[in-house]
Amino acid sequence: MRRLDRQWRLGLDRLARAHLGAWSGRWIVPRATGDPVVVGLRYLGPDDLAAMLALQAAVRARLGRPGLLRAVAADTLARVLAGGGCCAGALVGELLVGYGAIRYDVAWADNQGRAIGLADADFAAVAQTEGLIVDPRLRGGGVGRLLNEMRLVRARAEGRHHAIATISPYNRDSLTAFVPTGLFVEGLARGSGDAARYYTHDDLVCDVAIAQTCDQHVVPTGDFAPQEALLAAGLVGVAPVLADGVLSMTYARIHRRPTGATAGCAVLDGDQQ
Ligand SMILES: CC(C)(COP(=O)(O)OP(=O)(O)OC[C@H]1O[C@@H](n2cnc3c(N)ncnc32)[C@H](O)[C@@H]1OP(=O)(O)O)[C@@H](O)C(=O)NCCC(=O)NCCS
Repeated sequence: MRRLDRQWRLGLDRLARAHLGAWSGRWIVPRATGDPVVVGLRYLGPDDLAAMLALQAAVRARLGRPGLLRAVAADTLARVLAGGGCCAGALVGELLVGYGAIRYDVAWADNQGRAIGLADADFAAVAQTEGLIVDPRLRGGGVGRLLNEMRLVRARAEGRHHAIATISPYNRDSLTAFVPTGLFVEGLARGSGDAARYYTHDDLVCDVAIAQTCDQHVVPTGDFAPQEALLAAGLVGVAPVLADGVLSMTYARIHRRPTGATAGCAVLDGDQQ
């Protein structure tokens, strides 16, 4: 029987970190400058809206391809900050250098659960991301991943089971930062030009394992037809690969189990399934 290795990502770690108050601040070393800096971490509130909009505008203005990053409207962010979601923030002193927003009050018609095949009954448990942005001077130091983790921990604690984020198939930095953490590609909307988007999904109440079988495929992110076929066959995008200047996505089968049901399951044999 073929051996199936499973490496369970323990969702409990998230809750443990949240309860230990691990979000107060971190030394980070951004790859951009190499200079260590202390970054404060906290959840943002309505008073932070202006700084968020300024950061969003500054980062979009610097993007070579602005279409890769959807502009989130001020009223949407205001609703998030007023309690319709949550927003994690990173600061150097008083200066906002990053934020990651997620929204809970998702209208039925806009619910992205549909795009990844969730049942209608699950739509109320969906949280949709509304932007994650880090100041270019602070990038490559882990701030983006911390902000994502903070917003998912809070969304989970506030009763959401599914986090869904749209990411451009051409947004290398975002795919590199977040897909390997468990925001797996489970849907694709072609759009035209830079409007194409992956639907990435993190099941907040399940641990996940990637099946280490031969059934893995690496496809350039801009080749939509083979990716649609793989998604339709039940595989999901689990890891981006950059080789010879071409950005590709690795597709594999995954297994999910409710968090807490996996103790001792670091490695299982195929015949134990
Ligand atoms: C995407 C973004 C938020 C990532 O923020 P970040 O703080 O640089 O991310 P992290 O440092 O946590 O990155 C984690 C991983 O991504 C890689 N990475 C992402 N962006 C990088 C960059 N500019 N330079 C170097 N590495 C980068 C790192 O290699 C790191 O992987 P590793 O730790 O396994 O080596 C940031 O690049 C950004 O603000 N981009 C513009 C806005 C955007 O596209 N947002 C996402 C919308 S879906």
